[in-house]
Amino acid sequence: MKKVMLSAVAPSNRLTLGNYLGALKNWVNLQKQYDCLFFAVDMHAITVKQDPEELRRETRRAVATYIASGIDPKECTLFVQSHVPQHAELSWVLTCFATMGELGRMTQYKDKSAKQGAHIPAGLFAYPVLMAADILLYGTHLVPVGEDQKQHLELTRDIAERMNGLFGDDLFVIPEVYIPPVGARIMSLQDPTQKMSKSDPDPNSAIYLGDTSDQIIKKIKRAVTDSGSEVTWSDEKPGVKNLITIQCALTGKKPEEVVSGYAGKMYGHLKVETAEMVAAHLAPVRAEVERLMADTAYLDGVLKMGAQNARNRAQKLLDRVYDRVGFLPRS
Ligand code: TYM
Repeated sequence: MKKVMLSAVAPSNRLTLGNYLGALKNWVNLQKQYDCLFFAVDMHAITVKQDPEELRRETRRAVATYIASGIDPKECTLFVQSHVPQHAELSWVLTCFATMGELGRMTQYKDKSAKQGAHIPAGLFAYPVLMAADILLYGTHLVPVGEDQKQHLELTRDIAERMNGLFGDDLFVIPEVYIPPVGARIMSLQDPTQKMSKSDPDPNSAIYLGDTSDQIIKKIKRAVTDSGSEVTWSDEKPGVKNLITIQCALTGKKPEEVVSGYAGKMYGHLKVETAEMVAAHLAPVRAEVERLMADTAYLDGVLKMGAQNARNRAQKLLDRVYDRVGFLPRS
């Protein structure tokens, strides 16, 4: 029996190169070794304001992007979170075993709530518990994510260990996190001290997977670099470091190898070559996403099958949790 690997993206906007290099690309590389579940977390997306039509479109597009990136829908379970009600059901139980203190410490909650003014949706606060439910529901062993999700994984493990202590060690599998050695934190092209983010209001800060080659090349050529002109791998040059990281994540090369190719060259060379590399890499993914988006019947078929499979698997764990916490069996 293969171990279970699971991960997800929130379809709150178009996916970025950060999502691709920090998450998707590693799902693809690891998928053969695991029993995989990948889904679009539409219920997470509504923790911030969403246009309903856009959310529907981006939810399909997220799943199309998984397939276009190389996820095999015949081997992996692909689905949409809201199609599997057990996520919300388990989430409620876990909410009763998570504390206000630990949820208040989540960096992402602090960052996102700071942008909400006086009216912070309670969902933004509780959302890491729904993420814990996503993971624990399937007896997940490995969760491949970018650096920014590490804290949520630690919380998931803490809640699981707490409940295992109360209700039996066999209740939840304690999941491990997989953070890729390079590409775990791709930075904004406009402010390389900040993470590249789908929700950044400046469209030049991120490469979206739907961007044309021209757009990609323009954005990377305009990327903010640093003072000086020598291409080196250093925390003092976060803009240059980001471009080198992108190259490493795309090619599998080590930073020293990339840097040695730029001896005697200027930042301009690094920008142009990175831009061309990203554009060439993403062009077939973009074309395949567009093809799949035009074939709604196929996509919805994959999602229907995936949701059925996920519901069956999830119910077994949910039954066990309901029993252990003392709910009467459903007759
Ligand atoms: P989300 O949608 O913000 O991001 C999806 C994945 O992309 C990674 N990522 C990045 N990696 C490198 N550089 C970046 N700039 C960058 N930006 C994003 C994220 O780390 C993540 O792996 N809560 C999650 C989705 C989620 C989930 C889950 C993930 C819900 N349930 C269960 C794993 C397991 C989120 O909002 O990710």
